[in-house]
Amino acid sequence: MSIKRVLSGIQPTSDIHIGNYFGAVANWVKLQEQYECFYCVVDLHAMSMPYKPGDLKQNTLNMFSSLLACGIDPNKSVLFVQSMVPEHSELNWILNCVTSYGELSRMTQFKDKTTLLHEKSKDHFVSAALFTYPILQASDILIYKADFVPVGKDQEQHLEFARNISARFNKQFGEYFKPPQALFTKIPKLMSLADPEKKMSKSLGPKHFVGLFDEEKVIRKKVSSAVTDTGGIASSEMSPGVRNLFEILHACKKMNDFDSLKKDYENGSLSYKLLKDTVSDALVELTSGLKKRKAKLDENPDQLNQILAEGTEKARTLASNTIKEVKKLTGLLV
Ligand code: TRP
Repeated sequence: MSIKRVLSGIQPTSDIHIGNYFGAVANWVKLQEQYECFYCVVDLHAMSMPYKPGDLKQNTLNMFSSLLACGIDPNKSVLFVQSMVPEHSELNWILNCVTSYGELSRMTQFKDKTTLLHEKSKDHFVSAALFTYPILQASDILIYKADFVPVGKDQEQHLEFARNISARFNKQFGEYFKPPQALFTKIPKLMSLADPEKKMSKSLGPKHFVGLFDEEKVIRKKVSSAVTDTGGIASSEMSPGVRNLFEILHACKKMNDFDSLKKDYENGSLSYKLLKDTVSDALVELTSGLKKRKAKLDENPDQLNQILAEGTEKARTLASNTIKEVKKLTGLLV
C-alpha cells in the first residue's frame, strides 16, 4: 500500500505560542513518521487581513525557522512557503470558477473575522480575499492531492468546503481530484490564560498566550497571573482556568506532577501557586530546548535559504504537474 499524503498550513505570525505548538505543530512532527507530509507557511492567506509588508516577510521567515526548531525535518517532510509555489494561486483562480457565492457566504470564519475587523479598525475594510480565503486553502490541499489534512474543529468547515469543490470540479471536468479527508487526532486545545473561556490566540493580546520563544521571566509572569478561581473548595466542576493549567501540564507530559496535583485538587488542598509554579517549570523546560534550536537556525541564514529552496523545488515539481493536468481538463492552453 502506498504511503498516504498529508498537507497542512500555518499562518505566519510574529509569536508562535504554546497553543499553536500543542494544537498543531507537535502533531505535525509526529505525523512525519507515518505519512508523506507537506507543510506550508501560508503567507498569501495572511494578506487577507490588514498587515505591513515588512512584518509579513519577517514573520514568514520566522515561522519557517520556528517550524524547523520544533522538529519539522526537511529530510522527512516538504516544508515550504505558499507564495513561492505560484501554482497555488493558479489553481486558486480555476477553483474560484467552480465555487458558488452562496457556499462561500456560509463560511463561519468569514463572519467571525469580519466582526473582528469591525471591532478593531475604523475604516471597516473587509477584503474580498477574506471572503475567498477557503478557495485558496482548498487549492493548497488539492494541488498536492493530499489524502489527509490534520484539522482542529475550527477548520472542519473549510475542509468540508474543499471536499465539495473537488467534487464539483470532478463532475464538471471528469474524475480528477480525490476528496481530502480530515485527520482527527487527540490534540489538546489550550485556552487563553487571561480569559480561559476563549481559545488561546495571539489576537486577544499578550496576556492571553505564552509564546514558544518567550523568555523564562515572561513565561513565569504570564502563568502566575493566569486566571483561576477563588479556590479553597473541592467543587466537582473544575473552573476553566484551573482546567487549562492542568491541560498544559498534561500536554508537557508531566504525568507525575499532574497526578499528584490532581489528587490535591480532589481533596481540596491544591495550592494554585504550586500548580502555577509547576506549569511554569514544565514550560520553561520545554521551551528552553526549542529556543536554543531556533537561535542556532537563525544564526545561519544561508542554511535556512537552502532548506527553503529545496522545499520549494520539491513542492513545485508536484504542483506544476497538477496544474498542467488541470489546465488540460479545463480547456486552457498548455
Ligand atoms: N486556514 C488555516 C488556519 O487558519 C491555515 C491553512 C491555510 C491551512 N491553508 C491550509 C490549513 C491548508 C490546512 C490546510 O489555521
